[in-house]
Amino acid sequence: MCLIRLLPALSLAFGTALAHADAMDGMPHPAPAADGRAILQLDAAERAAILEEMRLFLDGVQKMTGALGRQDMDAAAAAARGMGMRMTHDVPPALRAKLPLEFRQLGFSVHRDFDQIALDAESLKDVSHSLGQLSATLQKCVACHAAYQIPTTAAGLDR
Ligand code: HEC
Repeated sequence: MCLIRLLPALSLAFGTALAHADAMDGMPHPAPAADGRAILQLDAAERAAILEEMRLFLDGVQKMTGALGRQDMDAAAAAARGMGMRMTHDVPPALRAKLPLEFRQLGFSVHRDFDQIALDAESLKDVSHSLGQLSATLQKCVACHAAYQIPTTAAGLDR
């Protein structure tokens, strides 16, 4: 019986009870809270590559919202396009092969969204429309983050 495989299910089932117990005993607890997200088993370099892409997303969203605030639709489109399909060209095939299909599909769909957001920002020049599209796409970021994690140590990675 593989204990590691059972752990996420167990911690999901008992996480609430444990959290309650932790709160009750009054002791500081350095241990992380139960985390039911699926684990992506990546090596340290692959993890770093994915997290770097993520920080580029956040950087792009910051630039895009700033541009929309100034009603600078060309800058908003440029920021969106930077997060479009062109961003996926750098992903090494070995890493791509390790990512679950649903993960890749969600990722691609976010990149495709940003290309569409860029096109619409240029043609419609409508801040509300662009913000609505951005919000819908951010919902996909939220969904993926709720579903997956890339641990540093649980998978026995080098530190
Ligand atoms: C297909 C899945 C997926 C999508 C889509 C996705 N992310 Fe992530 N992101 C992850 C995972 C997995 C992590 C690592 C989380 C962990 O291990 O706790 C992460 C981490 C991050 C981090 C932390 C980076 C770091 O250096 O630690 C940021 C910031 C981030 N994502 C931003 C975004 C934004 C903004 C979007 C949408 C525009 C987005 N992500 C879309 C999967 C995704």
